[in-house]
Amino acid sequence: MAQGADRSILVTGGAGFIGSHTVVALAAAGFRPVIIDDFSNSQQRVLDGLRDILGYDVPCYVQDCNDRAILPGLFQRENICGVIHFAAFKAVGESMEEPLRYYRNNLGSLMTLLEVMLETGVSDLIFSSSCTVYGEPETLPVAETAPVQPAASVYGNTKQICEEMLRDTAAAGKPLRCIALRYFNPVGAHPTAKIGELPLGTPNNLVPYITQTAAGIRPQMTIFGDDYPTPDGTCIRDFIHVMDLAEAHVAALRALQQLGADAHSHYDVLNAGTGRGHSVLELVRLFGEASGQRLNYRIGPRRAGDITAVYADVSKIQSQLGWSARRSLREALEDAWRWEEHLKQ
Ligand code: UD1
Repeated sequence: MAQGADRSILVTGGAGFIGSHTVVALAAAGFRPVIIDDFSNSQQRVLDGLRDILGYDVPCYVQDCNDRAILPGLFQRENICGVIHFAAFKAVGESMEEPLRYYRNNLGSLMTLLEVMLETGVSDLIFSSSCTVYGEPETLPVAETAPVQPAASVYGNTKQICEEMLRDTAAAGKPLRCIALRYFNPVGAHPTAKIGELPLGTPNNLVPYITQTAAGIRPQMTIFGDDYPTPDGTCIRDFIHVMDLAEAHVAALRALQQLGADAHSHYDVLNAGTGRGHSVLELVRLFGEASGQRLNYRIGPRRAGDITAVYADVSKIQSQLGWSARRSLREALEDAWRWEEHLKQ
């Protein structure tokens, strides 16, 4: 259980998919999450879901975390002792059409937060990075020591630049203690079906597209390519239950807090995945079993920019945080389907 002054954690983007599940995991671990979210890619109903799960209203500031003027007061008022920074734009395709919007938002918000953290003496930060930094890895599973590849999208580039910003700030001896978690593919929902993924418009990601198709919202889903050099020809990803990923943030935060007062500057990157790869076709089949639904799908052409296969080497995060994913992919798909059905009601 977190104690007194170590409890209040600012969760930027806390009404988003991974953010809202992390709010639940933080509260379960005895922390006091405080959300800041501008609701540009999330909905107010998330707050209702959080209230249903937790039994109280999570403090929430409906504001842009790029807003330099409001943050110092918020940090002080809420007695913030650590930050988990989720707030960012994340649509790969859109990032290629609107590069400046992505650079402004994703880089700007981290710069603003870092300045305010240094100014107010809050040192502990967990940053949302992505396995996209590895590009198409040469060896699988991919370890944190693998080279970062030139980014294939503006979105991916913002993650790389943010990692560099954090590394350089810690290397300069500033009072920053940060872990960047490189997420693999988060899927699923909270088992109560009170919160889950809420894509605005047509989903870009695989699992929401599948659940919306099974629910009859979309007529058919397309598997993007079955001619990849993999056993069944479809791409391979490391799909991680969003609650497992949420708990990884809590473990990372605790690790920073346990560094003690002497540790002034710290920066590390950790893979947050399951260590297992599943193909898109395997996932589609498993969804059928988990949901009892017949999914209408077809095989289409490859999607530009997709890599063939990526899954995590999880030995570093296991040894450093004592964390590993414990939920199965089937459980994640059952939870995702329960959530989709709940949305219909
Ligand atoms: C991408 C990004 C990742 C980012 C995430 C957030 C890359 C390489 N990856 O993950 O960094 O964090 O988006 O949005 O930039 N698929 C289909 N049909 C569909 C949708 C997807 O077959 O309708 C396939 C894709 O081709 C891919 C797999 O499913 O092989 C997963 O796709 P998706 O869920 O979009 O995630 P990534 O592209 O892996």
